[in-house]
Amino acid sequence: MEEFTYTAQPARIVFGSGTLERVADEVTRLGRSRVLVLAGEHLRAVGDRVEKILGPLAAGRFDGAAMHTPVEVTDEALAVLRETGADCVVAVGGGSTTGLAKALAFRTGVDQVVLPTTYAGSEVTPVLGETGNGVKTTRSDPAILPETVIYDVELSAELPRALAVTSAVNALAHAVEALYSADANPVVDGMALDAIRHLARGLRGLDADPDARADLLRGAWLAGTCLGAVGMGLHHKLCHTLGGSFGLPHAPTHTVVLPHAMAYNSAAAPEAMRRVAEALGAADAPTAVFDLVVEAGGPTSLRELGLAEADLDRAAGLAVARPYPNPAPLTREGLAGLLHRAWAGERPAGGAVSPIEALTAQVVATFAGTEDARLRRLLTDLVPRLHAFAVDNDLTQAEWQQGIDFLTRTGQACSDTRQEFVLLSDTLGLSSVVDVLDNSRTPDTTPSAVLGPFYVEGPPELPQGADVSAGLPGTPLYVDVTVTDTEDRPVADAVVDVWQSNEDGFYDVQLPDLDGPVLRGRLRTDAGGRLRFRSILPSEYPIPDDGPVGAMLRAAGRHPYRAPHLHFMIDAPGHRRLITQLFVRGGRYLDSDAVFGVKEDLVVDFASRTGPTPDGAPVAGEWRELRYTFRIATTG
Ligand code: BEZ
Ligand code: FE
Repeated sequence: MEEFTYTAQPARIVFGSGTLERVADEVTRLGRSRVLVLAGEHLRAVGDRVEKILGPLAAGRFDGAAMHTPVEVTDEALAVLRETGADCVVAVGGGSTTGLAKALAFRTGVDQVVLPTTYAGSEVTPVLGETGNGVKTTRSDPAILPETVIYDVELSAELPRALAVTSAVNALAHAVEALYSADANPVVDGMALDAIRHLARGLRGLDADPDARADLLRGAWLAGTCLGAVGMGLHHKLCHTLGGSFGLPHAPTHTVVLPHAMAYNSAAAPEAMRRVAEALGAADAPTAVFDLVVEAGGPTSLRELGLAEADLDRAAGLAVARPYPNPAPLTREGLAGLLHRAWAGERPAGGAVSPIEALTAQVVATFAGTEDARLRRLLTDLVPRLHAFAVDNDLTQAEWQQGIDFLTRTGQACSDTRQEFVLLSDTLGLSSVVDVLDNSRTPDTTPSAVLGPFYVEGPPELPQGADVSAGLPGTPLYVDVTVTDTEDRPVADAVVDVWQSNEDGFYDVQLPDLDGPVLRGRLRTDAGGRLRFRSILPSEYPIPDDGPVGAMLRAAGRHPYRAPHLHFMIDAPGHRRLITQLFVRGGRYLDSDAVFGVKEDLVVDFASRTGPTPDGAPVAGEWRELRYTFRIATTG
């Protein structure tokens, strides 16, 4: 049986987007009516907004909060508080503003409503650190804990990216150390693991995921709650020493030190490390945190933060001077080693890291300097996946050589008129995955579909009503389509490129003897967004299968056929380009298309008709009619 002690910290949490608007309600809910607003120097505008929302509840303003909560500043704010007769403070900002609110509450008992703009987490702790006469004192008291915390994702989203990264890793440190804290308990463990998952997801998604900032803020709240509930260990102590005695910046120092402090404690806290690794989706926790920092573009060395190498031993001495609970025993030599590695920016040697894991990590680390953040993210993610593919399948040298040969042949098969790599991507379904990802961002529009290898830039310009088949044999097809925006307004003068295969399933570029481009053209919509042309009914056809991709399909027992379709590429100023295909309902291979390109919404009637044709041209027997409305998105 696990024995534990847990003390809940009674705070009200309001979490969401635009929650700043609820500040007056929250003050009233506390039964308070005179508010002193505290805003950081650089958050004046937000402070003004808070005052405006508070309206008659706002009784005064103080914008002078400073780092480390100096008592002189608190005294100044206290005078303003007394003058205004405030019974509540509303603090908007980072750790300094929250610190000032706590200092005022501790002295006077006023209630606090805090709106954090960073991920520091101090808003949910009953701890106050103050400096007076150059001495720092820290106290913990239930009166210090803010009554209400309003987390507003919009507000935190204004935190610049670089600060968001270091502040988030600072929060991560609270959660990690909570798991191996001497006071650890199941409630806090649960919050810590959830914090780690949210923070990791937020950090990984910073450049692409619209929910990343919400993840970071949620993780920061949970991690801050851990910080307020259980004691911290070596990592926090070291950062405290480096900040207090060497003036290193708070959050960046946390960012550099965390993986190394974790590596130091790794063997002594294996269960905590296993759980952290699991939450991060990695094999080894310290190296995973290091890689996360690299991937997010955070600092990795104390050297870059301005610490002199000569100061490392003194820092180690200071950090062991007063004992405190920590899983691994603290020795001066041990800490000096840790600090040296952190100073140099080395990737920590993980716990039970295999030679392959070390190699993967080494390769990942070589991408740390990639300027372009997106490229850095893609490369650092691709390498471990490629390595894992080899490991999980116990790949032999001979097999990999075959893989290289296959890729080589794929490259060699490419020419001006043949793109074997596109075919490979298509037949592996990757093109369609990317297509679905991209298209899902505009749900009101006509779905897109893969471009395929047969598009040719600058097709022949054709007038409305033209016959793009130039009289080639086949079932006549009359196409009558309209282009609108997502509000159903016609898009006039849209440039529409169309292309398709002939009756035997060949595109013109596959037929060298053909005279000029055919079954492809560029047309423009009229004032009503309408476009008409004549062609022939597309038929199913095999993708080019005389190269390495064809060999792959045969080896897998797959057929090479595409379901019958007509290609469209639609461009109009002020609109997003749409590349798509319309598939013939009832056509073959709709459910086994070789390139996985069929989407239900794109399977449409190519209606069978007889009798007079739209342009009056005589047609003996059956002809087909395609009517369709494309909806395209506006840009911006
Ligand atoms: C096409 O539809 O033209 C196509 C798409 C992917 C691979 C091969 C052909
Ligand atoms: Fe095609």
